[in-house]
Amino acid sequence: MGKKIFSGVQPTGNLHLGNYLGAIKNFVDLNNDPDNDCIFCVVDLHAITVKQDPKELKNNIRETVATFIASGIDPKKSIIFNQSGVAAHSEGAWILSCVARMGWLNRMTQFKEKAGKDKEKASVGLYSYPVLMAADILLYDATHVPVGDDQKQHLELCRDIAQKFNNDFDQDNFLQVPEPLIQKEFSRIMSLKDGSKKMSKSELSDLSRINLTDDRDAIENKIKKAKTDPLPMPSSVEELNERLEARNLLGIYSSLNNSTLQSTVDNFSGKNFSEFKNQLSDLLVKKIEPISLEIKKLLNDRPYLDKILLEGVEKANSIASKKIDRIKEILGF
Ligand code: AMP
Ligand code: TRP
Repeated sequence: MGKKIFSGVQPTGNLHLGNYLGAIKNFVDLNNDPDNDCIFCVVDLHAITVKQDPKELKNNIRETVATFIASGIDPKKSIIFNQSGVAAHSEGAWILSCVARMGWLNRMTQFKEKAGKDKEKASVGLYSYPVLMAADILLYDATHVPVGDDQKQHLELCRDIAQKFNNDFDQDNFLQVPEPLIQKEFSRIMSLKDGSKKMSKSELSDLSRINLTDDRDAIENKIKKAKTDPLPMPSSVEELNERLEARNLLGIYSSLNNSTLQSTVDNFSGKNFSEFKNQLSDLLVKKIEPISLEIKKLLNDRPYLDKILLEGVEKANSIASKKIDRIKEILGF
């Protein structure tokens, strides 16, 4: 049976190789299976949980749409829309925030990381962010949610919220309890500068990540400068447990090449690190440069991008508004 897919990406700029390998590449494969119904959302309401410049936000929304399309998502097959265009997301988030428990949210590690030391100054939205994410998913009866490893905990919360709503209101299976779709290997791409930190949009040094808008020169330069260790190429996968940077680079190669870590290790064992880096650069240029060029082309055609969003909002709204009406009925409104 086909799957109902929902996922979201924040329009906060600097979409990078981690977003691509952890999430977007998976979206493309799901979009290509004609049995699936896919919805990919630019989660602009999530973006404003931290301060955004309105002009930049607008550009970043378009850039995220351009990245989806350039990566291979077909807007004729999948719904692409921005979250703020469909009012049911905000409404649903409020209602579900009355279902979710403080104790559940207090366990969310991403809030702790993002709020940092000064929790008192974090927005309330940053704290309740996973409830909005649950509304996103539950409004569309999504059966499967493709995400990177860092979103696993938020999906568990979404499942808990759905189950509690169904129990509290005696509505067996009314809210669909979704399954996460997380890549088994390479679900967490790490920084090129520190193999213990994940590759991130917000990292200050641009050398820590490959952006999906990087050109050939930038990619080659970043791989040349990527941190490694002085040892020769590993001869076994076990050896990589202690060698985080080497593991990450070999993982990136494997993921782009659709091969296992084991076969990549076997392939490069006994060779020089510089030879491996050259081949990794070539592979990255081959896979990422076409996406980067296409993003730039699409960004020159704003009316096209805006039309995709407008059509997407219309389609998404016709699904979500029905669901929110039912939810309100169940609540007694
Ligand atoms: P965000 O940019 O935070 O909206 O993330 C969009 C998607 O990319 C989510 O599914 C994340 O789990 C995924 N993602 C973000 N960073 C990484 C990373 N370093 N490795 C793997 N997946 C990631
Ligand atoms: N919280 C996700 C992230 O930061 C983005 C997101 C928002 C999402 N709503 C979603 C992902 C619904 C999957 C499904 O990456």
